[in-house]
Amino acid sequence: MCNQCNKKTYYITTPIYYPSGNMHIGHTYTTVAADTMTRFKRLTGYDAYFLTGTDEHGQKIEQKAAEAGVSPKEYVDKIVANTKDLWKLMNIEYDDFIRTTDERHEKIVQKIFKQFFDQGDIYKASYEGQYCTPCESFWTASQLVEKDGVKVCPDCGRPTQLVTEESYFFRMSKYQDWLIEYIESHPDFIQPASRANEMINNFLKPGLQDLCVSRTSFKWGVQVDFDPKHVVYVWIDALSNYITALGYGTDHDELMQKYWPANVHLVGKEIVRFHTIYWPIMLHALGLPLPKQVFAHGWLLFGNDKMSKSKGNVVYPQPIVNRYGADALRYYLLREMPFGADGNYTNEAFLTRMNADLANDLGNLVSRTVAMIEKYFDGVIPAWTDAVDDTVDAPLKEHCAALPKLVEAQMDKLQYSQALAEIWKVIGECNKYIDLTQPWVLGKDESKKDRLANVMLMLAECVRFAAVLIAPFMPHTPERIFEQLGVNDEDLKTWESLASFGQLPAGTKVKKGEALFPRIDIKKELEALEGPKEEKKPEKAEKKQEKKQEKKEKKVEIPEGCIAFGDFEKIQLRVAKVCACEKVEKSDKLLKFDLDLGTEHRTVLSGIAKFHNPEELVGKNLILLANLAPRKIMGIESQGMLLSAVKVNEDGSETLRLLTADSIMPAGAEIG
Ligand code: MSP
Repeated sequence: MCNQCNKKTYYITTPIYYPSGNMHIGHTYTTVAADTMTRFKRLTGYDAYFLTGTDEHGQKIEQKAAEAGVSPKEYVDKIVANTKDLWKLMNIEYDDFIRTTDERHEKIVQKIFKQFFDQGDIYKASYEGQYCTPCESFWTASQLVEKDGVKVCPDCGRPTQLVTEESYFFRMSKYQDWLIEYIESHPDFIQPASRANEMINNFLKPGLQDLCVSRTSFKWGVQVDFDPKHVVYVWIDALSNYITALGYGTDHDELMQKYWPANVHLVGKEIVRFHTIYWPIMLHALGLPLPKQVFAHGWLLFGNDKMSKSKGNVVYPQPIVNRYGADALRYYLLREMPFGADGNYTNEAFLTRMNADLANDLGNLVSRTVAMIEKYFDGVIPAWTDAVDDTVDAPLKEHCAALPKLVEAQMDKLQYSQALAEIWKVIGECNKYIDLTQPWVLGKDESKKDRLANVMLMLAECVRFAAVLIAPFMPHTPERIFEQLGVNDEDLKTWESLASFGQLPAGTKVKKGEALFPRIDIKKELEALEGPKEEKKPEKAEKKQEKKQEKKEKKVEIPEGCIAFGDFEKIQLRVAKVCACEKVEKSDKLLKFDLDLGTEHRTVLSGIAKFHNPEELVGKNLILLANLAPRKIMGIESQGMLLSAVKVNEDGSETLRLLTADSIMPAGAEIG
């Protein structure tokens, strides 16, 4: 609890990253997650503190700098500057950025090391063992694994080196039983829980080895001040950052008093061992409480491999953010995979989500809501009326009012993707509510104006809820929504304002703006990000099959009025999601559609304006004859034909309905 502001405190950290190369989308993932949680905690009334930084010492950095022909400090300074630029680009707002080369850090690491030595936790002996430089990890011979006949590091699969040095050792073994007991009696300490079992069964129960905590074979590290030949082992140096940044061991330890123990250390799953074995033992030896939780998230994979600078299979965020904005990438990273599990990053998956969730679901809801308020109420939000239809209003209202708690419950478990899924469920429900209430029908009948007012208010209020709740995940987007909704009052942007549904005041003037997330042509965008793709030549087997089919058809008699199967196969029918639909100017008949086919967009004209209102079609899955030769109508090229069914009525008039496909079908699904 903060004494001054009386708020509950919340301290969250990322690992401090090795500045051996520029940070990629994997490092961005952890840092975006920490930033989002900090923003969420602040939104919900906490005094939150967010620490990140860089882990600059060690043999690996020393080698990299030597290869680049510069001093280690020059080498890391450049990468740290790039890292800070990247975090700015991603809209990441940390409270402190600690560098292990900061004097404030180095001094305290020396002090901590000396205390361990003085109290007998550290002793000097001779060391012989295997060292993995990329992981900065010691291994015993029995822990190595065999790959292609060579013994390699069990974590990264690369060869290790035999190290023989006089070293200091930490008596880890002394704390083993205490730590097992601690982990077992604090089930929340290591999350997901499967990681706790892994630590106990694979490392603690087999017996902890004393840890070699100093090196003499290189210089780039924190010097052991009472024995200057030695530098402190990088993990002892690095883990200390979580408390040196708070002023631990200095006369100015107010932050330490206020924020320690940390609420959560976010770490990738490969470094759980350091954070749940070495770090708790170090803290216990210092007489400090342990962090409340270490949460191990999964890896962003590239193919089946973990992205890593040293393997060279890396995706960098800059080109993506420069093209689509930080919010789109932040959304994707947090939405795509459950926090704790691995997931693949592909540009295609990112672009598909952008179109589906951001452009279609969220973007359409905002633009339709604002457009309808402009059309039916001259752009002014009306007052609530008593024209309520509780069969449709009550479920949406109740769901939306319950949303903040649903989101908070997921965030308490660090389930970012589930929290977003909860918000998107309400967004989806709003889009359905539009279909159910049919505002375009209400708008034609003056006596339904009161009902229409409530429908508009329901939608606008749900949009406001969504805007407040997405702010931690996508910090830029809410302001753009509030601008369109005409919400200037800061009190309507708070968590507290979500305590009751229906706060949006009548009289607010809405203002249609640019599309929040313009729909994109995935094929074109993929080319822009990855360069043109070679067209796939049909496989030999496919060609053979085609010929066989042709032969077969030649033999079969085709009755009058029928077509051959081969001819039918030429027809390409696809599910087409309506992204936008409007009347063509100067035409009574034509509607112009913007259709999403999953990997591309099509403009299609259809002469059905008499039968369908454009607004009711947005979001629907229609059926498109996709390989009809394009043709120009009233100067607009129509790229396909929408299928419909027609019924002739008794009076000779016609009723026409466009054919639809089930809403679970993705845009572009093939029909056949
Ligand atoms: N310097 C140590 C950490 C010391 S913390 C006291 C280190 N640094 S690192 O540069 O290798 O960064 C590792 C962290 O970056 C991972 O734990 C994870 O948070 C993040 N990631 C790096 N690559 C990643 C993926 N491909 N996927 C997800 N996260 C990844 O280890």
